[in-house]
Amino acid sequence: MLTYIRMRNILITGGAGFIGSHVVRLFVNKYPDYHIINLDKLTYAGNLANLKDIENKPNYTFVKADIVDLDEIRRITREYQIDGIIHLAAESHVDRSIKDPFTFARTNVMGTLALLQAVKEYWDSLPEKYEGKRFYHISTDEVYGALELTHPEGVPAPFTTKASSEDEMAYGTEFFLETTKYNPHSPYSASKASSDHFVRAYHDTYGMPTIVTNCSNNYGPYQFPEKLIPLFINNIRHGKPLPVYGKGDNVRDWLFVEDHARAIDLIFHKGKIADTYNIGGFNEWKNIDIIKVIIKTVDRLLGNPEGYSEKLITFVTDRLGHDMRYAIDSRKLQSELGWEPSLQFEEGIEKTVRWYLDNQEWMDNITTGEYEKYYDYMYKNR
Ligand code: NAD
Ligand code: TYD
Repeated sequence: MLTYIRMRNILITGGAGFIGSHVVRLFVNKYPDYHIINLDKLTYAGNLANLKDIENKPNYTFVKADIVDLDEIRRITREYQIDGIIHLAAESHVDRSIKDPFTFARTNVMGTLALLQAVKEYWDSLPEKYEGKRFYHISTDEVYGALELTHPEGVPAPFTTKASSEDEMAYGTEFFLETTKYNPHSPYSASKASSDHFVRAYHDTYGMPTIVTNCSNNYGPYQFPEKLIPLFINNIRHGKPLPVYGKGDNVRDWLFVEDHARAIDLIFHKGKIADTYNIGGFNEWKNIDIIKVIIKTVDRLLGNPEGYSEKLITFVTDRLGHDMRYAIDSRKLQSELGWEPSLQFEEGIEKTVRWYLDNQEWMDNITTGEYEKYYDYMYKNR
């Protein structure tokens, strides 16, 4: 029998980022009796315009803070009497981690540790201690390392989900399981792996009620345009080159961001303490193939002739240590908690491309840097 935990004051870190903003929106709208506190430092990746539609709701509060700042996090957890944490704040871009690994260790490792410690101290001070509490850490499949491309042309995926069509392809016979040994390669994945270990250590050592999930690549609205899909949509719109790393034959497993947010909601409320769940849609794509789908969709929606923007494809020097293939086995989450992706990939990518084309102002505010003024406008100068 699964128990459904109800909490009152939920701290969501990194809620101004891509996935975090979808999680904040879902919780604020779905749980009017919860107080959702969005804690975000507003780095280059944080954009409060992602939350314009809910920013004035009575059950929502934004707090600008750095998760590394232990004293500040101690103060916030006490002030808002936090019962549940959904921790998404992180440095998240692999290419940046290759150039600046220290920032990744600072935020992802030290920040997660500071958050764990501050929350632990606050919960330890309460009469009920950890009863009814949750510390849910959002991680990535990249901690498992890279899988082999054993079937370059793809083989039918050994699983069916609502999201997979009959001819769904997988590019190998191996998948990441919850029991797969950690083997991170990039500074980003090494920092996330380390943070996952700290979260589990706080359960194993102190009995903190933690949960960790590892998700595959997300796509959808509000993703910062340094990541493949929004970057390429924007470059096609401006007729700019599309930099494909190496030969474009690396494989990623793509999940629509709202399906990730739904999984987070389910696991936060019904997941087993100290457990791990993998989240993914059995939706593997070679980079070059997904790029062609993006080009086709953008060209169609812009009224360009088919194949018009393929000339923008530019093969460039490969990413250092570029992981070949990621593929998540999410059957545990499907069978234990009944989650499944809601969208076919074709629908998800159409929805995504349309969103970026319909929200050009959102994109332009990022590329001009205008978005960084939104916090002052909303929270300081009123
Ligand atoms: P993102 O880069 O879009 O957003 C990160 C957010 O964290 C930003 O709002 C940023 O301002 C905030 N932040 C960064 N450093 C901070 C600090 N020191 N203190 C407080 N806030 C800080 O990231 P995302 O793509 O939304 O990813 C969210 C989480 O999900 C990350 O933990 C990431 O590792 C994980 N994840 C991402 C994906 C993906 O495909 N994007 C897949 C699996 C897991
Ligand atoms: P990205 O969106 O950065 O996510 P991740 O590195 O976490 O998987 O990249 C997705 C894939 O696309 C990855 O294999 C790297 C590749 N890529 C390019 O080929 N060109 C680009 O400009 C970017 C940003 C990524």
